[in-house]
Amino acid sequence: MEDKPIVTSNSVNQPTASPEAEEAVLEIWGQQPLSGHVSISGAKNSALVVLAGTVLSSQPCRLRNIPNLMDIDRMAQVLSALGIKVSRNGSTLDVDPSDISHTRAPYDLVSRLRASFFIIGPLLARMGVARIPCRVVVRSGAPVELHVRGLQAMGADVHIDHGTVHASVPGPRGRLQGAKIHLDYPSVGATETLMMAATLADGETILENAAQEPEVADLANFCRALGARIRGVGTKTMTIAGVPSLHGTDYGIIPDRIEAGTFLAAGVITRSEISLSPIIPEHLSAVVAKLQEMGSQVIAESPNRLRLVPGHDIQATDIQTLPHPGFPTDMQAQFMALLTLANGSSMITETVFENRLRHVAELNRMGANVRLNGNCALVQGVPMLSGAPVQGTDLRAAAALVVAGLGAHGKTTLQGLQHLDRGYERLEHKLIQLGAQIRRTTVNSQDLPDRPDVLESAAAPATPSFLPQG
Ligand code: EPZ
Repeated sequence: MEDKPIVTSNSVNQPTASPEAEEAVLEIWGQQPLSGHVSISGAKNSALVVLAGTVLSSQPCRLRNIPNLMDIDRMAQVLSALGIKVSRNGSTLDVDPSDISHTRAPYDLVSRLRASFFIIGPLLARMGVARIPCRVVVRSGAPVELHVRGLQAMGADVHIDHGTVHASVPGPRGRLQGAKIHLDYPSVGATETLMMAATLADGETILENAAQEPEVADLANFCRALGARIRGVGTKTMTIAGVPSLHGTDYGIIPDRIEAGTFLAAGVITRSEISLSPIIPEHLSAVVAKLQEMGSQVIAESPNRLRLVPGHDIQATDIQTLPHPGFPTDMQAQFMALLTLANGSSMITETVFENRLRHVAELNRMGANVRLNGNCALVQGVPMLSGAPVQGTDLRAAAALVVAGLGAHGKTTLQGLQHLDRGYERLEHKLIQLGAQIRRTTVNSQDLPDRPDVLESAAAPATPSFLPQG
């Protein structure tokens, strides 16, 4: 199959309904048992940051196991705007970053992908200058403050001018300086930005209180494949010895632990035995431990294959989301869907993102009994959920509503597929292969309930609870 340059945002072949007339929705008929095996795609949150990391290399890179997702296409378009050629052949991307002709990312592309902020570190390290339009205002407690403060510690001048983050390295050689940086919070993005920037800095950088998510380790291993010198991968303290330049590589990313966790939740809510591969079991330790508390078993059939044996009932339990190796925030919504049907009541506390509980109202429309108090949700188990028209408000909320729809009585119509398609490759196709009754279709917008209560925008990250509010 010939290489295809990635040029449009519709290259994931999703039906695009004209906004004023029709809308793409998923229709799910619940209570269908699932069976069989599901193949897990490459990790979205590795692919995005590894793609950005190719900017560090002066030679072509080949990236394997890259899922075909809207967000990946958008990141590829941002790189293309910098003069970097990106082409896709199936799940393999060929990236040629040898000649970067621009150091400003276009607003229209960056504004559609928050993760495109990840290019600031590599671009600054490689070129000595980076200009990234930034929808979020950089202020104390803003979602990029830790990135900015770390780059400034490495000698960068970073300021906001007319909504664009301008970063540059003063001095004739325009090279960042190694520094000792303690992160106030183990931010995944800030750890990744600063680790990438440090690979080409002058001297050694020590990152303390670094994020330990598997995707951060995957990025570190990719950088090491480029020739970077990084110690402490996967631990809270990483030491990066800067090198003058980095070469190309051929690198395969890890499987998506959040996609795998989402399918495990689909199996539990339909009381179905399913198997999943490839997967790295230790990436799902907190999720598997919680499933066992809830009455299910997850058996390692081989080093990279899991089998779910669901319990007859779902036992109530409490969940607090935390940085890795704690319970992942990206699985919180999907597990809330399960706990709406548990025997008893559960308390879910979201400590990572402040406004990541917007799926509560949608689950309650399906008959759930969830009460919110700040960043806590009290979930009182109910005997059944009923299918209903619901709206996905962000990527994982949409996934949770698919899970809920699979367990509900009757038909669920899910709107907001633009969120779902950002993070799940061929979700409905994979579920159909397992026996689910689900289809993607377009319906006339007039036939859908008017939902002024649901803000259209994705759940933009607010100031997290660990930083001063306001
Ligand atoms: C990454 O987001 C993931 N995204 C998220 O996955 C994931 O939920 C999150 O890590 C936590 O695991 C990608 O990798 C593309 P953070 P990121 O920096 O890097 C605050 C999904 O569904 N913060 O660890 O943005 C921030 O606002 C997505 O796949 C600051 O205040 O997460 C948040 O409240 C969603 N200032 C908290 O820290 C900063 O400078 C955690 O953010 C940086 C972060």
